[in-house]
Amino acid sequence: MDLNRRLRTQWTESAQDWIRQDQAIRVDMLDSWMLNALGDVSGRDVIDVGCGEGRFCRLLSELGARVTGIDLTEPLIERARCLGSGRESYLIGDAENLAGIDDESFDAAVSYIVLVDLLDYRAAIDAAFRVLRPGGRFVVCIVHPMRMAVAGGWIRRGSEKLFYPLDDYTKEGPREFLMVGRKFLNIHRTLSSYVSAFLATGFVLEGLWEPVPSDEQLTAHPDFEDELRAPNFLIYSLRKPRA
Ligand SMILES: C[S@@+](CC[C@H](N)C(=O)[O-])C[C@H]1O[C@@H](n2cnc3c(N)ncnc32)[C@H](O)[C@@H]1O
Repeated sequence: MDLNRRLRTQWTESAQDWIRQDQAIRVDMLDSWMLNALGDVSGRDVIDVGCGEGRFCRLLSELGARVTGIDLTEPLIERARCLGSGRESYLIGDAENLAGIDDESFDAAVSYIVLVDLLDYRAAIDAAFRVLRPGGRFVVCIVHPMRMAVAGGWIRRGSEKLFYPLDDYTKEGPREFLMVGRKFLNIHRTLSSYVSAFLATGFVLEGLWEPVPSDEQLTAHPDFEDELRAPNFLIYSLRKPRA
């Protein structure tokens, strides 16, 4: 199966496992960083591109945003519609073109660990730029490129995690890893490739974070200690300039 087809079908095959997956690192650490990057969303039109089963859409909706969630994977959108509050809208669609979404119709766009799933990430960045109003914000979270370069995970001695390996960093392309017990593909790209793509589209980079747990989060989840050892995620806050 070719690479693009595999990227586009792997989520359908794993949708039910993903729905059941432990989301602690997102719910109890990453969400707070994403919300901080987004700022006040109350009364704003927000699109969550690659929304999965809609968890973050529901959170934004509770905070007063008018939310549209869009995802390519039908079973995930079906689940989002079931779990939704009725205030969000959920659509099946492709992040690489956002076909059917009007130009300049959102105040903010979210891409929560999705660009690593796309072959044409530049097209997805262009599409997000297109649907944002001037002055709108695009908040992107990806798996940290330093974590993605080597897909095998921690180097261990018995149960001890010795270190997280970094190699082949500049060799961009697919990486295969295990998630929810299955082989998954993501696309590794360097940090500078992402930043260059955002800037080439016309976005202004306003913030960049490598999220770590707070003391309270560490007390609640001692296993989050790993996040202090090797960067796991990267969040960009981007602004579409006013005309
Ligand atoms: C790692 S999951 C993240 C889901 C959600 N953002 C979250 O944080 O829970 C990646 C998501 O990207 C979606 N996806 C992959 N390729 C896509 C595409 N071309 N267009 C839209 N969504 C896509 C998958 O269906 C999946 O829901």
